[in-house]
Amino acid sequence: MMTTVFDVQQYRKDFPALSQKVYGKPLVYLDNAATAQKPQCVIDTLDRYYSAENANIHRGIHYLSQKATDAFDEARDKVARFINAKESREIIFVRGATEGINLVAQSYVRPLLKPGDEILITWMEHHSNIVPWQMVAEQTGAKLKVTPINDAGELILPEFEKLLSEKTKLVSVTHISNALGTINPVKKIIQMAHALSVPVLVDGAQSVPHQAVDVQDLDADFFVFSGHKLFGPTGIGVVYGKAEHLEKMPPYQGGGDMISAVTFEKTLYNKIPYKFEAGTPHIAGVIGLGSAIDYVSAIGMSRISAYEHELLEYGTRALSKIPGLRLIGTAKEKASILSFVLEAAHPHDIGTILDQEGVAIRAGHHCAMPVMERFGVPATVRASFAFYNTHEDIDALVRAINKVFEVFR
Ligand code: ALA
Repeated sequence: MMTTVFDVQQYRKDFPALSQKVYGKPLVYLDNAATAQKPQCVIDTLDRYYSAENANIHRGIHYLSQKATDAFDEARDKVARFINAKESREIIFVRGATEGINLVAQSYVRPLLKPGDEILITWMEHHSNIVPWQMVAEQTGAKLKVTPINDAGELILPEFEKLLSEKTKLVSVTHISNALGTINPVKKIIQMAHALSVPVLVDGAQSVPHQAVDVQDLDADFFVFSGHKLFGPTGIGVVYGKAEHLEKMPPYQGGGDMISAVTFEKTLYNKIPYKFEAGTPHIAGVIGLGSAIDYVSAIGMSRISAYEHELLEYGTRALSKIPGLRLIGTAKEKASILSFVLEAAHPHDIGTILDQEGVAIRAGHHCAMPVMERFGVPATVRASFAFYNTHEDIDALVRAINKVFEVFR
């Protein structure tokens, strides 16, 4: 089979933000785990929608409303195909992965919980996959259980197995850690949980931009992600849920579009997915997300994955040679994240110096304070890649880190 060259320079041209200079230096954008840049086609889609197609959906009978409704519905089909959901009605649009987890916490898990029941998460979760469960635990008297991780930042599966029990009402686990880059064996985790009839939510915020996802193959009960990390607009995200669960769940919010009939005595709820989409949705965001999905699908998620894997290996080798640099997160299965600390300087100082060199990274706890605590550091410097990053970007990162040594000699 012919393998086509991954023409990163060609792809970079699709992203206008990447060609700018900051402080007179070429921008090296390595903060993709926080948010990704947008290709021109997504920007054009938003522009076209607001310039020529703007109307509310599912309400008007006029031309523009029908056009917007068709584009909105088509985007839902695109999302369903992208993650291989069985049906489009299993796709619910929300503001982002965070809102998605809160929806599942309040609408699916809360009604199941009684005092003493347990929700099982892991030590490497983002705060958005910790706090909603703490809230629901407080509301019901349930307990939060946490699977530990090893020194490489990998989940300790035998411990996970020990913590799973008939008290567990849900397992919620990140697919890829935003702070460490660890790729969790979610298919295996789901098999282990399902053996005890425990449903599983997968937080895919950091996985969908980097690898192909097949929710049916994983057999995930719920899968959430955000559009903005997938080169789409901010403020739009997705909850995938198996129809059998969604059908049984009460609505998360009340309002227009989520009803089929309202009287003051009683309201009949709409069918899924509309039951969960109260109010005018982020129509432009949904259509823009559809465009982002078209864009990455045309490149191919498996090609993106292979290219980024090579980039990660190159970056790991380059950073490992820097004296006094400690990589935080050295899992065997890892994606697109290099988190590190230096003996010489605090991560925030490093971030400031790197910024002056045009290198955009994130420094801090990455909304994963328990991970920082586990590794005994207050914060890390995190360089996170997308498929438009290059070997030269890594070289620029290394040069900028060397500047840190000049300042903190
Ligand atoms: N969750 C995003 C990050 O890791 C914002 O930076």
